[in-house]
Amino acid sequence: MGISLSGRSFLKLLDFTPAEINYLLDLATEFKRMKYNGVEHKWLTGKQVVLLFEKTSTRTRCSFEVGARDLGMGVTFLDPGSSQMGKKESLADTAKVLGRMFDGIEYRGFHQSVVEDLAKYSGVPVWNGLTDDFHPTQMLADVMTAREEFGDLRGKKLTFFGDVRNNISNSLMVVCAKLGMTFCACGPKELSPRSDLVEQCQAIAAETGASIQITDDVNEGAKGCDILYTDIWVSMGEPEELWAERIQLLKPYQVNKELMDKANPGAIFLHCLPSFHDRETTIGEDIYQKFGLPAMEVTDDVFLGKQARQFEEAENRMHTIKAIMYATLK
Ligand code: CP
Repeated sequence: MGISLSGRSFLKLLDFTPAEINYLLDLATEFKRMKYNGVEHKWLTGKQVVLLFEKTSTRTRCSFEVGARDLGMGVTFLDPGSSQMGKKESLADTAKVLGRMFDGIEYRGFHQSVVEDLAKYSGVPVWNGLTDDFHPTQMLADVMTAREEFGDLRGKKLTFFGDVRNNISNSLMVVCAKLGMTFCACGPKELSPRSDLVEQCQAIAAETGASIQITDDVNEGAKGCDILYTDIWVSMGEPEELWAERIQLLKPYQVNKELMDKANPGAIFLHCLPSFHDRETTIGEDIYQKFGLPAMEVTDDVFLGKQARQFEEAENRMHTIKAIMYATLK
């Protein structure tokens, strides 16, 4: 029997089988091919989606907006200042109202329980555009980009360098476990990954042939690595006061030329973005003035180098999000 995700929500990749993830990746590849060839695909004309953003976004918002329009849908954007949610109206009531007007709901915010409750009460597919725990739409773009580079990803090693407790590292551990890859969480002992999630991923890995490594040694992280991945050191929603402590802890895990050279020949660099690789942002310049660091999680030579694929990855956000919306709404 073929795979159908019609009517499903996309809340975390733990809810999806490897075959379902590969189905979405194949669909995204087909959407990319159509976009490149100018083939119209307004396959969801007449449907309406709403985007709820409690945090800022460039890639995720634009991917949902462009993807929805390419599919022929109407799009409504709501930020915290332009809806009643949470202030004058409960989450459950908001979900019930939105479910009567829209065919699908995207949510970006803080607690995973919010996106789970939106799905529970709205009665329509809900898509997780980032919570404190997971960033599953990002994952599909990441593995699509890696698949474009390497083909079959089974046995490939992806190492996340940095704060291995954050939503990106959590989500990478899940997707690598699902797809039979080696996932390595490489960060300081003080920031170790969630033990319950590690256990869940180890159980998945036992079935898929994946493996999970956890280390504080960058040489171990880079050894045999095909995909070097990092993220900013202080995540959205965390206080600015954390910068000094995080810089101290995470500076040894910066992805720089020396680290790239320790990985496999042909290894690629990925980053979910935005990135502090230079002083061209207000925060980047502020950190330079306070701590003397011209770059943080990745150096400019790596970010602009031949192995960098973060802009292909950013583009693939749109193709993969389109696949998710189409598969769940068709
Ligand atoms: N990677 C990512 O989610 O980007 P935005 O915060 O710009 O959406």
